[in-house]
Amino acid sequence: MYCYRKVTDDLYWVGSNDRRLAMFEGVYSVPDGVSYNSYLLLDEKTVLFDTVDKAVKGTFFENIAEVLDGRKLDYMVIHHMEPDHSEAIQEVVMRYPEVQIICNQKIANMMKQYFEFDIDSRAILMNEGDSFSFGKHNLVFVMAPMVHWPEVMVSYDTTDKILFSADGFGTFGALNGALFADEVDFERDYLDEARRYYTNIVGKYGDQVQALLKKAATLEINMICPLHGFVWRRNIGDFIGKYMHWSSYAPEEYGVVIAYASVYGHTENVAEILACRLRERGVKTVMFDVSVTPASDIIAAAFKWSHLVFASTTYNAGIFVNMEALIYDLVAHNIQNRTIALIENGSWAPTSGSLMREQFEKCKNMTILENTLTVISSLKKDQLAQVDALADAIAESVPGAAKTLPMPEAKKEEIAVKAEIDPNAMFKLSYGLFVLSANDGSKDNGCIINTVMQVTDVKKRIAIAVNKANYTHDIIKKTGEFNVSVLTTDVPFKVFQQFGFQSGRDVDKFAQAGSEARTANGLRYVPEYSNAVISGKVTEEYDYDTHTLFVADVTESAVLSNVPSVTYQYYFDHIKPKPQPTTDKTGYVCKICGFIYEGDELPADYICPLCKHGVEDFEKL
Ligand code: FEO
Repeated sequence: MYCYRKVTDDLYWVGSNDRRLAMFEGVYSVPDGVSYNSYLLLDEKTVLFDTVDKAVKGTFFENIAEVLDGRKLDYMVIHHMEPDHSEAIQEVVMRYPEVQIICNQKIANMMKQYFEFDIDSRAILMNEGDSFSFGKHNLVFVMAPMVHWPEVMVSYDTTDKILFSADGFGTFGALNGALFADEVDFERDYLDEARRYYTNIVGKYGDQVQALLKKAATLEINMICPLHGFVWRRNIGDFIGKYMHWSSYAPEEYGVVIAYASVYGHTENVAEILACRLRERGVKTVMFDVSVTPASDIIAAAFKWSHLVFASTTYNAGIFVNMEALIYDLVAHNIQNRTIALIENGSWAPTSGSLMREQFEKCKNMTILENTLTVISSLKKDQLAQVDALADAIAESVPGAAKTLPMPEAKKEEIAVKAEIDPNAMFKLSYGLFVLSANDGSKDNGCIINTVMQVTDVKKRIAIAVNKANYTHDIIKKTGEFNVSVLTTDVPFKVFQQFGFQSGRDVDKFAQAGSEARTANGLRYVPEYSNAVISGKVTEEYDYDTHTLFVADVTESAVLSNVPSVTYQYYFDHIKPKPQPTTDKTGYVCKICGFIYEGDELPADYICPLCKHGVEDFEKL
């Protein structure tokens, strides 16, 4: 039986989930399954975006037939040829013989490697920036080599501003009925899996991902439709920010990953003691037994945290086998910009420390602490000072570690005596954010405020504090009436720019509003990004230097949606644009695969280490 979901009025998700797959790509555990996303557009022409893995072809074809409802399939857009998305191409062609395939030359070439039908007669080849119209919808194509294979491209629907992002912005995990990321608690339940997906699948290609993000930054994106995981229609900037972070190889958090390989528990014991000493110094720690935890989880953690400790027993005169595989994997995934500490164990010839060091010396921008802690069979009491020294050395390079140490008594007394006012303490109050609107008799106006509180319940009264510099303040002083629109977590930054970054004395702020909505008092409000509107009639005013506190009777109130209210903290964490990590590299980029050669001069005989093309295929950054 078919099982599809609507993405927009004319776009459908026709993919499916696989919860029986043990290892994605044969190497990454997927305990919560994985989704294979495909999308079907019903325009003047019908368009299928990519296909699915062979494991879920049954539901996929039922979905297509149901959504097409008797129409023929005109086009299939193929963004990526890895078989988890391309497996069903030949069967699509057999079932819908008139279908034409929109792809690029590299995709067409790869299609010939996998399939035997006549590809050339039905392929329509796209180059960077080419566009194709299906009626109402117009698609523009952008090449994205090595995100995650060399043939990959993404496309952008200029009509609905949808980015079809191929593997980019995907997440491990079956969808479980949800399609949109805002239908789940993504940060709590899926962010770790999104990181594990990114770091393991495309983590090696940070430069290429950054190149794609730079292209994406020029587009207004309302929705992202990836090939795995959820569709994004809210808080898109947040997720793009994560990709900017991960692809720059900058750690997300200060803290220490301790990965250990221990045959009889003695190396584990050293790791445990070090973790305790680090916690006592206020340093966050996470620990992994490499014999138990899949490497993909540890790789994701290594991309998240700033410091990495590897503790390994010596085995067959080398690094313990699981640790060796992990380190090989980390180096292959291009891990960089981390501080590394090493612990080795060995009962007669400990060598794992120097061998681990050799591996990490291949990575970029690694600070490898000089002293390897060597243990002969088991840690002895007289070596505890060495563990302390290692903990000190790590903690010294963890910014903020000291801040989380228990506060010494002397410091407490100092604070009590001085009784200083730290303005940052005010930010810990759980403010919301609101548009306060009023009308001066000829013009609607509004401003952003963060202080609205209910004063009494029977009858209902609220109080608002308004800065006297705001024109809305003057209007309310004159008219005694206002509306409060309670902003939600999906409010875009532009609303703060519209109401907060300009004066109503100079501009008509509501001229830029999307709706004409008014409450019974005739005042405007902001229905698009609010979950409630409350109308107030001022009964009392209190002058507090810079602000006036207005107390008002509630004359009308309505719930507009169930989207959570935005808090001041949420605004700073998720809405206010953050400075993005930048790459200020000079060099040359390979036009074939996106590899970046760093340096002022490209040697005449240089060969791209990824795709093996020569200097003629490089261009200056
Ligand atoms: Fe999901 Fe690169 O395939």
